[in-house]
Amino acid sequence: PTTIKSLYKQISNPPQTVDQINGWVKSVRLLKKVGFIDLQDGSCLNALKVVVPITQLEETEFLKSLKTGQSVSVTGALWNNTPQREQPFELKIADPLNTLSVTGDVSNSYPLQKKAHSIPFLRSLPTLKHRTTYLGSLLRFRSAIEHAISETLESDQFIKVAPPILTSSDCEGAGELFKVASTSGDGYFGKPTFLTVSAQLHLEIMALALSRCYSLIPCFRAEKSDTNRHLSEFWMLELEMCFIDDVHKLTTFVESMLRRVVKSCYDRIDELIPQVDFRDSLSKEEIIERWNLLLSPKPWANITYTDAIEILIEKHKKEPFPKYEPIWGESLQTEHEKWLADKYFNSPVFVTDYPRDCKAFYMKLNTDSPAGRETVACFDLLFPDMGEVVGGSIREDSYQLIFDEVERRNMNRSGELDWYLSLRKEGTVSHGGFGLGLERFVSYLYGNHNIRDAIPFHRSASGNIN
Ligand code: 4AD
Ligand code: MG
Repeated sequence: PTTIKSLYKQISNPPQTVDQINGWVKSVRLLKKVGFIDLQDGSCLNALKVVVPITQLEETEFLKSLKTGQSVSVTGALWNNTPQREQPFELKIADPLNTLSVTGDVSNSYPLQKKAHSIPFLRSLPTLKHRTTYLGSLLRFRSAIEHAISETLESDQFIKVAPPILTSSDCEGAGELFKVASTSGDGYFGKPTFLTVSAQLHLEIMALALSRCYSLIPCFRAEKSDTNRHLSEFWMLELEMCFIDDVHKLTTFVESMLRRVVKSCYDRIDELIPQVDFRDSLSKEEIIERWNLLLSPKPWANITYTDAIEILIEKHKKEPFPKYEPIWGESLQTEHEKWLADKYFNSPVFVTDYPRDCKAFYMKLNTDSPAGRETVACFDLLFPDMGEVVGGSIREDSYQLIFDEVERRNMNRSGELDWYLSLRKEGTVSHGGFGLGLERFVSYLYGNHNIRDAIPFHRSASGNIN
């Protein structure tokens, strides 16, 4: 059967007749002599207007009985071919009693109607919400972003790999693990096991075989943070490359890669972003403004943590941050990150070289940092209005230094990290990488305010599970 998307693809030379098109009724409008049905099939954000001239009473009765949400199958002729118009064609059907069949009815309480529904209301309808233009387009947009990311990375000779989800390691060392149990007991056949928080440790191992690799997998964090930027189950793009020893080479790579991804979507923006008008989202004009900011000829801002703290302290003296005083040695709080990216730079900003104790154990020590103020070769990428979207680092490649750090943090009490540490004894090389939170990136570009809507079935501290 034909899809609406395939009709749009043939827009300059559309077929005369459409043997069969299947979809769902979005809305029905009835005049005396003619009925209009908006049909959607999910293949693209456009609906197909079906025009039904009415010749007898039975037809009026039949059209009156159609309801939003019903699945239907239609045969007709393409008509009114005006390629330059927003509605470039319509499907005209004669004899609707024979050419339009309802394949699945809806209940009387079908909750979606023609009007725009609020996002919180849609979230309460996990089985139906994706049928709306707004959330359906968000699924298609996420798919387009994943595709653009793979294309960009494959062209840079990265190899996609499949790291495990079940693991015994806490990569980030933050203790935010979901523990695995089975009906026959705790863990993986009796061994302590968790859902992965990050694929990084396994990616490092594969990078030392392939030079460049990446993965896109679900990651799990038992964080209590129940905010519009946190999920318990989110997807992370992670990438690891060898022969890189400078964090600025890493930030240059991230910027170039993300610009290419955004650029490739920019060229198809009308196909990807619906024109919506409700307060749960940015308007299309605001979204374009956002994309333009990322694609601005001006390079993204780049600042060290130490310089950022100085700027934040100056600002705090004049006008204090509501919740946290900026202090060297402490993590940047969301209010600090947002002020830097939104107000100070009004640009994406890389913050590099954080204090060692703010970050994970595997990051490479900056050997030139002063004693007592040790920093590591890492970065966070902050987007205006969103905060952290990417985090990465150069990895410590010396066995002795990483071993000492793991000891200092008391992380290897029963040798659980030995498998990973041994990598530094077998042909070690400088390497680095990063992780990008897919839902944060997608939400930033789509303009939805809560990353819960960028994943089809969200899991979060307060959410339901089905
Ligand atoms: O900064 P994070 O914790 O870094 C790592 O896990 C590294 N091991 C990645 C690497 O270098 N391979 O997480 C990376 C990104 C964050 O910048 C954020 O975008 C996203 O993952 N993220 C979350 N997204 C949604 N919900 C959460 N609870 C998230 N936690 C992290
Ligand atoms: Mg981080």
